[in-house]
Amino acid sequence: MASERAVRGRLQRAGQEHLLRFCAELAPGPRAALLAELAELEPDALREHCRRAAAASARAPGPPPFPAARLRPLPPECVGSASRADPETRRRWEDEGFRQIALNKVAVLLLAGGQGTRLGVTYPKGMYRVGLPSQKTLYQLQAERIRRVEQLASERHGSPCTVPWYIMTSEFTLGPTAEFFKEHNFFRLDPANVVMFEQRLLPAVSFDGRVILERKDKVAMAPDGNGGLYQALADHQVLEDMARRGVELVHVYCVDNILVRLPDPVFLGFCVLQGADCGAKVVGKACPEEPVGVVCQVDGVPQVVEYSEISPQTASQRAPDGGLLYNAGNICNHFFTRGFLQTICREFEPLLEPHVAVKKVPYVDEEGNLVKPLKPNGIKMEKFVFDVFPFAKNFVAFEVPREEEFSPLKNADSAARDTPTTARRALLAQHYRWALRAGAHFLDVHGAQLPELPGLPETEDPPAICEISPLVSYSGEGLEMYLHEREFQSPLILDVDQARALLLQGS
Ligand code: UD1
Repeated sequence: MASERAVRGRLQRAGQEHLLRFCAELAPGPRAALLAELAELEPDALREHCRRAAAASARAPGPPPFPAARLRPLPPECVGSASRADPETRRRWEDEGFRQIALNKVAVLLLAGGQGTRLGVTYPKGMYRVGLPSQKTLYQLQAERIRRVEQLASERHGSPCTVPWYIMTSEFTLGPTAEFFKEHNFFRLDPANVVMFEQRLLPAVSFDGRVILERKDKVAMAPDGNGGLYQALADHQVLEDMARRGVELVHVYCVDNILVRLPDPVFLGFCVLQGADCGAKVVGKACPEEPVGVVCQVDGVPQVVEYSEISPQTASQRAPDGGLLYNAGNICNHFFTRGFLQTICREFEPLLEPHVAVKKVPYVDEEGNLVKPLKPNGIKMEKFVFDVFPFAKNFVAFEVPREEEFSPLKNADSAARDTPTTARRALLAQHYRWALRAGAHFLDVHGAQLPELPGLPETEDPPAICEISPLVSYSGEGLEMYLHEREFQSPLILDVDQARALLLQGS
């Protein structure tokens, strides 16, 4: 156990001795827990962390770090497009992606260490149900997509294959996520192919450079951002695990996009055939103020400028065709080769500059009272997953249609956008479109045919409820054999059993 004397010495070196000010009055259990937590903090790194935070707060709010003069849109030669490519090219990309998957060279990696503060839930976002008829959670949808892609790749290439699923969690999400997967029998994936690992936490710091105590016996800690990925890969030898499995290509994504395609053979194939070491999927921005990063060039190299770091003027600049100049919205969906990740972890991770977020951080005051501040009082420092883009030798971006691939769950239903309702509608609208395309007819209670989607998928429910299990179709493929020239009434829940029943009826 860490002795108080040793811990005090380390904290003095870091200039943070105030963290022990309630130590003497704590019961033995909480006291030991606090000392253990403090003993983990490396004094020199802690001193530097606090110095940087205080310096950043002195600059805040300051001008955005990326003035317009440093930015350019991406050059067209490094951007591919799923919707503008001709069918033959698209098929080539998809074939290549499936080939890599069938060779067991592909892994997916989920960033799931965030705290879901905006959504306002106390459990990991992946466990959230947006209210689909099937009651599936985000984790279950993702697991089933992986299983379906494995099945499709195996069928195409005649041998079984595996897509390992790496899940980065944090202290806040690891326990409940691991428990949830066990309770659900890993959604019938082999547990040996689901690898969870934990990112680090960093202390929150006041504007004058002092680490904040959240309780008398607890430091206010927060995950070190989704760019904590690179440190976490090194901490837990994850790249070595990938190498043992023969994984060469990693499809990284964030937890909250209900439409996420993972792994996506088309995106993977495009990146591989372009010889890319690093890539990002993008969608056209919905409006200048949409809270998504923009993929562009900063000082001539590819980078994402985060929505919190771009000025409203730059975000609304127009291109000659009238569209937004910075229109490539980042959907937190990235491609990396294992070799690239290795170079980042070995050489460049320490060069990644943390970003500063000014937040309201609950704390104990000098008298030991718990205070929930009404104004921001602290600084959290985070690294961003995309900050490695400038180190790529060959960066590519891949544009995909929003209605097929992006509907993030960020906010509670009281907000106007990116809520459980908009996510549910986006998925059900997509499935309704797929069913119509496969030749299904939906009838109302009087037997009259229902129309195509009348409005924007996010603002209205589709005319009929249609939910298709990812185990039946991953991206709308293969539905004709169940649905062609058949009539249905709402709701149509096309799960594996229903699909089998429809096949039997047809034969
Ligand atoms: C993120 C992107 C933004 C993009 C948007 C699209 C980053 C830094 N920003 O913004 O450019 O337009 O998604 O939806 O990628 N996470 C961790 N550990 C952490 C913090 C977050 O694993 O310490 C994970 C979250 O669990 C989530 C993902 O990273 O899966 C994105 O985090 P979130 O905070 O939701 O990012 P946004 O601000 O929405």
